[in-house]
Amino acid sequence: MLQEMDGYNSQPKKNIAVLASGNGSNLSAIIDAVNLGTIKNANISLVVSNKKEAYALKRAKDAGISSIYVPRSQFCSDEDYDLYLISLLIEHRIELVVLAGYLKIITWPFLKAFKDRILNIHPSLLPDFGGRGMYGMKVHEAVIKSKSLKSGCTVHLVTEEIDGGTILAQEEVDISNEDTPETLAAKVLKKEHKLYPQAISNFVSSMSHESRFIK
Ligand code: GRF
Repeated sequence: MLQEMDGYNSQPKKNIAVLASGNGSNLSAIIDAVNLGTIKNANISLVVSNKKEAYALKRAKDAGISSIYVPRSQFCSDEDYDLYLISLLIEHRIELVVLAGYLKIITWPFLKAFKDRILNIHPSLLPDFGGRGMYGMKVHEAVIKSKSLKSGCTVHLVTEEIDGGTILAQEEVDISNEDTPETLAAKVLKKEHKLYPQAISNFVSSMSHESRFIK
């Protein structure tokens, strides 16, 4: 299988897989960025979801991107599940994995196979309001409760420590007295849609020009 070339610098474009469990608005932002050329050095080759009802699957289909629902129930363990995902990603020659609202812990075989090649976006200014159990509205509820004056979003590398990998990019939002978890979530999500594509583009540019795969 041949890889598409980036016309600007004649390097093969990197193949990205996006893993998503829910709405997929970040997926859409990344798709738009690829189409508009904000991300010019990569393609989304595959979208994977562990949730059948994930709207992200519909967004992928509408964009003409291969997508697959992989039910956890078909596997004995999370490690077996991830071993299957690894085989799928290798089959699609994936070089970068982007988590976009993927609500499933990544196990060690996956972390090992794609070491330093898995990105995530978290809806707070990490290291604050991260870690186990801190996802979705729980993050924004905790931020509002803490009376913080700022929140934001963070793009980071995924490691075995939940939300603990190297921080690649952050964007802040101001919190006003009137903000609720819902209004804060909307403000942060808007920032995510700009930050994530930009961070992905920068990360892909910093990746070695050597493809992991033989053409
Ligand atoms: C985002 O807030 C992201 O930070 C978090 O999950 C949410 C996903 O939203 N990891 P969407 O599915 O991309 O709309």
